[in-house]
Parts: sequence; structure tokens; C-alpha cells
Amino acid sequence: MAALRFLTAGESHGRLLTAVVDGCPARLRLTAESIDRDLRRRQMGYGRGPRMQIEVDRAQITAGVRYGRTTGAPIAMTIANRDAENWADVLSVEPVDAPAEPVRVPRPGHADLGGALLYGSPDLRDVIERASARETAARVACGAVARRILEDVGCGVVSHVVRVGDVAIEPGRLPAPGIDDDPLRCADPEVSERMRAAIDDAAAAGDTLGGVFEVVATGFPPGVGSYVQGDRRLGVRLTAAVMSIPAIRGVEIGLGFAAAALPGSAVHDEIAWDERDGYRRTSNRSGGIEGGMSTGEPIVLRAAMKPIATLRRPLHSVELESHRPVEARYERSDVCAVPAASVVGEAAVALCLADALVDRFGSATIDELTDAVTAARRRCRDA
Ligand SMILES: Cc1cc2nc3c(=O)[nH]c(=O)nc-3n(C[C@H](O)[C@H](O)[C@H](O)COP(=O)(O)O)c2cc1C
Repeated sequence: MAALRFLTAGESHGRLLTAVVDGCPARLRLTAESIDRDLRRRQMGYGRGPRMQIEVDRAQITAGVRYGRTTGAPIAMTIANRDAENWADVLSVEPVDAPAEPVRVPRPGHADLGGALLYGSPDLRDVIERASARETAARVACGAVARRILEDVGCGVVSHVVRVGDVAIEPGRLPAPGIDDDPLRCADPEVSERMRAAIDDAAAAGDTLGGVFEVVATGFPPGVGSYVQGDRRLGVRLTAAVMSIPAIRGVEIGLGFAAAALPGSAVHDEIAWDERDGYRRTSNRSGGIEGGMSTGEPIVLRAAMKPIATLRRPLHSVELESHRPVEARYERSDVCAVPAASVVGEAAVALCLADALVDRFGSATIDELTDAVTAARRRCRDA
């Protein structure tokens, strides 16, 4: 069982999303404002659909926090869906006399068909509502709690978009301060322009685009994770966390797939020691993880997002039961959501790293955790 775990609930157009974070150390400073900041960042980005103008996400903390500090109890949060009143009848919890027209055409690239086969619902609405990426708002709220834990031990988690469709930045660029001001969350303004043009072209053609984002975690202590069992490897936990985001199709750490084409001398990081920092690497091609554990260098991972599956120029599908060939329905949708996904990626990484820390240092209070991390850093330096 994870030391710091979370659950989300809620439908895309239901009354509200609910998130619960369990295992957060007590006495951590936490306000709704620190959560709203990340919720706002998830809503930004060029290529988003009209929904982002309807929803202005705000978290309400309903349990686990008193006078701005966590108590050690589960933290519960809700995020209202502002469009919900228009869907009140369609998504009524109680039975209604006149149910909404069922959705019967599964959209390719979505959970629709698999969900209908799995749960046997005669109305795809049951699948669409929960499989929607609206859930990632609740995940970002949980990630904001994890971010607060990490901040107190001197660890920051940032991200940037490194590719949209076939437009990519030079490898090796790092997320720059002020990255949130760029509509693509891209570190190179000229490349950002070209990404925007690519999204415009795709939108004009009724098409969509995917891309790649990179998440960088700095200041994470060495020696977290383990090699003794496969499922305790930090890289396994991180890639699984990021792969759990809808539409993510691959995750690589450090050089990732590129390492397969290079000789060992161009892949591995040499070890050095100095008085101030202790052990360090002269390069960081491993992306901060070796032998299933953190090295103390920045953790760097990239995730590939598939293009949005809802196309204005619809794909072919088959109606449930009648089996008649039809075109997939178009419901308002993003053309490209890679900038938003990068913020969700930060949340996934933050949750995973905070869990690994609490797992490693097992602390009831945030002060115990920060003291344990400081002591471990000192031990690692002098080892
Ligand atoms: C932040 C974010 C926003 C998304 N927005 C949309 C959207 O507006 N329309 C859409 O069809 N898919 C959107 N998606 C992607 C779908 O959620 C995803 O492709 C779909 O659930 C199936 O993905 P899977 O095959 O990985 O499960 C979004 C994904 C993320 C992470």
C-alpha cells in the first residue's frame, strides 16, 4: 500500500469532483489558494476547447486541515463543475421519469467501446463521464498537496512542452522561469510560435495534435526507491504514475530510448565528490535515477501524449446493438492538450515522489520528515 495515497471520484458534468489524499504528514501548511494555483495552470494552454472558459476551477478543502495546517487526517477536497446545472437531468443520481437519449456510438480512441463491453451499460454516457480527462483536475488538486510536502524538503517539480506534432525544441533545453506565461508552456518563444501555427493548421483541418512534455524534479534527496524488488524501483513507480494520465502513450527517463543507440561511454554518468555537495554526477544522462533509486541529480522524464481522439472531422464507428456503420459524434473538445497534460504530469510526479519520501522516512509530521531528509542528506554526503 502506498504511504501517501489518493483517490478521485466524480463525473465530467456531475455536480462536483471529489479528491481524497491519505497519509499526508501533519502540521503541513496548506491552503485552498496553493491548490487553486495548480488548478488554474491546468486550465491554460493554447488549443484548449471552450470548456476551459466555462470552468474556473477552485478547490474547497472539506476535511483534514485546520487553521491552514494538515492534521494528519485524510484531506478531502471538492471542485465544483460549473456547467453541472445544464446536465442535472442527464446525470441525475435519482431515477427520472424521462431519461436522456442514450449515447450509442462509441468514439474511436476513447474508453467508450471497452467501457460499454466491460460494464454492460446501454448508454455510453456512463463511460464517457468518468473516462473524461476532467478527472485530471481532481488529480492536480491531490498533486498540489504533494507539491507542498516536497517544497518543505527543498524539492521543486516543473514541466515544459518539448514537442507538439512535428514541432520540437532543441534537446537539452530546461523549463525556464515564467514558462506558465507561454501559451504552449514551451521554453523557446520561436518554437512556441510554430507550435501554435501547427495547432491552428490542425484545427482548420478538423484534426488534432499530440506531443511530448518533460517534467523535472530538482532537490530530491538521493537513495529513495530501491533495487531489492522490481515494484520498489523509483523509475517503475514514476513511469506508472505518469502512464496513468489519459492519452499518455510512453514515458522515458533521462536519455530514455536514445540510450539504446549510444555506446556506454555516452550514456553513463561519472561519479565525483566535493566538500560542498558530497557525491555528484558529472552529467545527468540517467535522468536522476540509477538502480531504481534517486541519485540526487534532477529527475528528468518525458511523456508522449497521443493526439486528442475527438475529431471535428469524425472517424468511422459502429452503433451499439444495430451494428450499423456511422460517424463518431463530435462533442466540444480540445485540439491539443499537451500544455495541460504537462501540468497533470507534474501532479503525477509530485504524488509519486512525495509517496516515495513518506514511504522511505515514514514521518507523522512534516517537521519529522524534513529533519529525517536533512539527516539523510548529511549521511549521504559523508558516506
Ligand atoms: C489534460 C487533458 C485534456 C484532454 N482533453 C481532451 C478533450 O478535450 N477531448 C478528448 O477527446 N480527449 C481529451 N483528452 C484525452 C482523453 O482523455 C483520452 O485520449 C481518452 O480518455 C483515451 O485515452 P487512453 O486511450 O489513454 O485511455 C485529454 C487528456 C488530458 C490529459
